[in-house]
Amino acid sequence: MPRCHLKITNATIIDGSGNAAYQADIAIETDRIIEIGALNHYQADEKIDANGWCVSPGFIDVHTHDDSALLKTPAMPFKVSQGVTTVVAGNCGISLAPFQAQGEFPAPFPLLGEQKDFVFPRVSDYRDKFETSPAATNVALLAGHSSLRVKAMNSGFERTAEESELNQMKADLKLALQQGCIGLSTGLDYPPALQSSTDEIIELAKVLNEFESAIYTSHIRDECDGVLEAVEEALVIGKKSKTAIVISHHKCAGPKNYGRSVETLAKIRLAQENGQDVALDVYPYIASSTTLLPRFIDNAEKVIVSWSKPHPEQNGRLLGEIALAWNCSQKQAAQKLYPAGAIYFQMDEEDLKRIMSYPSTMIGSDGLPGHEKPHPRLWATFPRVLKRYVREQKLLTLEQAIHKMTGLSAQTFTLKDRGLLKPGYYADMVIFDSQTIEDLADFDDPEQPTKGIHSVFVNGKPVWQHGASTEHRPGQFLRH
Ligand code: ZN
Ligand code: CU
Repeated sequence: MPRCHLKITNATIIDGSGNAAYQADIAIETDRIIEIGALNHYQADEKIDANGWCVSPGFIDVHTHDDSALLKTPAMPFKVSQGVTTVVAGNCGISLAPFQAQGEFPAPFPLLGEQKDFVFPRVSDYRDKFETSPAATNVALLAGHSSLRVKAMNSGFERTAEESELNQMKADLKLALQQGCIGLSTGLDYPPALQSSTDEIIELAKVLNEFESAIYTSHIRDECDGVLEAVEEALVIGKKSKTAIVISHHKCAGPKNYGRSVETLAKIRLAQENGQDVALDVYPYIASSTTLLPRFIDNAEKVIVSWSKPHPEQNGRLLGEIALAWNCSQKQAAQKLYPAGAIYFQMDEEDLKRIMSYPSTMIGSDGLPGHEKPHPRLWATFPRVLKRYVREQKLLTLEQAIHKMTGLSAQTFTLKDRGLLKPGYYADMVIFDSQTIEDLADFDDPEQPTKGIHSVFVNGKPVWQHGASTEHRPGQFLRH
């Protein structure tokens, strides 16, 4: 009689490929799935009766800023409670590693922590730290362009890089990839990268070519009035460097630009038809969240302060109200509140739906751990898609939505043996009730675990059960 350490019976299998759900049992031994089917004949040390509930691959959060959270809060409750088993960190140009700077600590680096948290000059330093005390989730790391830039251009980054500086960045990127980074991210809309030329990034992205499956992800240069040109720039970078690209948290921000995802997606589709490898990610909210900068205010209908170092008493308040109380403009208030984070209401629901339903779009939270009053996407991105856009609005089928959270993500980022329920694959899994799964976190009360999740497994070990984190920390540092 075959044996396994865990058998899940009566499961509705949603395997992550986008194919139709089916009923089966799953056998798991150590960290892998060994068989899926009618497994009455299996003897198991432990059995879970899924009772018809869904079992899918664990969700892959392709857009995170969890670099320091993985080390500081290794239980990762805000991720495992919503079914996330792997996070891609180092997005938007800022990675905790590799980073080395003596001088200025510019925005948006405070999104990842304080300057004293940046203690990983090499990716191997970060990897060693993670592997010595792993988190509950797996992590794959992107090297941040701004991180590379700040090191190479310590004397000031408000200009294009000189050749020697570019060479330094290339060498650092190459080392980062050798030490396990899966690609390069940029945040071209942020101070440390605003002045970088397209050519600088093309040259840097060419380094990715020397590595199999290394990818380029970008918070593009402009998500507002210049969004179409910014998408074009990302496509040019991918094309000239012959690299697969991901356009991060795609949006058309600012009321003037509502509806323009018709144009941006048409441009992306055309590039794909011409053979370019392009993917996108999106989070299911019409409000964004990032550092509080005066120049970001113009394109928002409403701004909520999510944290402020000098004025923590203002956390959770509207910037407009604070400005009124302080008898100054919103921009002046923003300056007084800095370093600070904010939530910007600046998107159109129709754009969001159009982007989410685009076949190459994955789900990524862009959650910001460590904020006093975080955007609810940190805790609730995945269940919100399943409740609001699958069950209520029927924008996606359940199988399509799960594919955008698992199979498509693993394929795009080349995460080997993950993202599907398949014999031989890692046992990263989530058991949930598709009829009741619900995001309880909202803007008023953003730190709420998901309703309707039974349990979550990473590499065969339960990390979330009975509505709480377990003691297991089975996360691995993933590399190509
Ligand atoms: Zn970003
Ligand atoms: Cu981001």
